[in-house]
Amino acid sequence: MKIAVIGGDGTGPEVTAEALKVMDAVAKLEGFTIEKTDFGFGGDHYLKTGEILPEGAVNELRKYDAIFLGAIGHPDVAPGILEKGLLLQLRFQMDQYINLRPVKLYPGVETPLKDKGPKEIDFVVVRENTEDLYAGIGGFLKKGTADEVATQTAMYTRKGCERWLRWAFEYTQKRSNPKGKKLTLVAKTNVLTFGHDLIWRTFQEVAKDYPDVEPDYNHVDACCMWMVKNPEYYDVIATTNMFGDIITDLAGILQGGMGVAAGGNINPDEGGTSMFEPMGGSAPKYTGQNVINPIAAISAAAMLLEHSGQPVAGARVLKAIQTVTGTKMKSQSAGKMGYGTTEVGDLVVEALG
Ligand code: IPM
Ligand code: MN
Repeated sequence: MKIAVIGGDGTGPEVTAEALKVMDAVAKLEGFTIEKTDFGFGGDHYLKTGEILPEGAVNELRKYDAIFLGAIGHPDVAPGILEKGLLLQLRFQMDQYINLRPVKLYPGVETPLKDKGPKEIDFVVVRENTEDLYAGIGGFLKKGTADEVATQTAMYTRKGCERWLRWAFEYTQKRSNPKGKKLTLVAKTNVLTFGHDLIWRTFQEVAKDYPDVEPDYNHVDACCMWMVKNPEYYDVIATTNMFGDIITDLAGILQGGMGVAAGGNINPDEGGTSMFEPMGGSAPKYTGQNVINPIAAISAAAMLLEHSGQPVAGARVLKAIQTVTGTKMKSQSAGKMGYGTTEVGDLVVEALG
């Protein structure tokens, strides 16, 4: 397996090192090899060279089976530059139209929800990843004057809706959930009566091809309420780019926070290249202290393996993570884990068996 590695900024390289350590160990156990190539993109590279994503970089990255991304975000770079120039560019240019975010409370991990445990908090968000408000359509008129106008347009295409929703139905169909197979579309059809009408009509049409999946619908505001009150209600959620961004931070906290939550930017098409990342940021204040939690990065590695042709290895990593959270770690917060960053990586390797 050939992996492109973008460690990125702050604590990104530290958590990436642990994820790679675990991937190498499981590859050895499962009898395959991983060839890694480092790409030094991120804040430091930008400050030194003025370049965010070098010419030809995307074509180069496309040659790999998958991309692992640690974190981007640098205290000396204005907000938005690296996010748009690197992360969103990669998602868009590589047409990674699925942002897959499993929300799973691992054993031993604390959730802020009273009386809810791993049985109740176990669902998946399938966030559309290339359209909506993220498309970057809009502009200014009379910028900087008292009469200034700004627009930011949400864009949805029939093709974009269909490929995302079809993937979500397929995914729900394959997911083994004792509660049954349910796909909840989360949108705002009562207010966004054009764009979300297109999504709603596409959803109903695609649903016909998956009779064993129960199609369900929540408005996004109600979803936030139910997710906190009854997280066990959800199996798979399909939602738009912007709403998905917001509800997966809420969901991330339910599963123990940014030290745990991971996601995949997936291009499921033939020859597509996907990119996996821990959901948390670069946490620059913890850089170099060996205190940051690598579990999210290791979970991202498990997803990478699962979606890049090594599902058995991926499942093995996921199981090892749960052994470590359930029997070793004291907390999922940076500096309070009872172990250092590298030790947590070692514990997961050990738990692979
Ligand atoms: C995420 C992040 C990104 C997003 C930012 C960094 C552009 O918040 O992956 O959820 O909004 O998608
Ligand atoms: Mn986000």
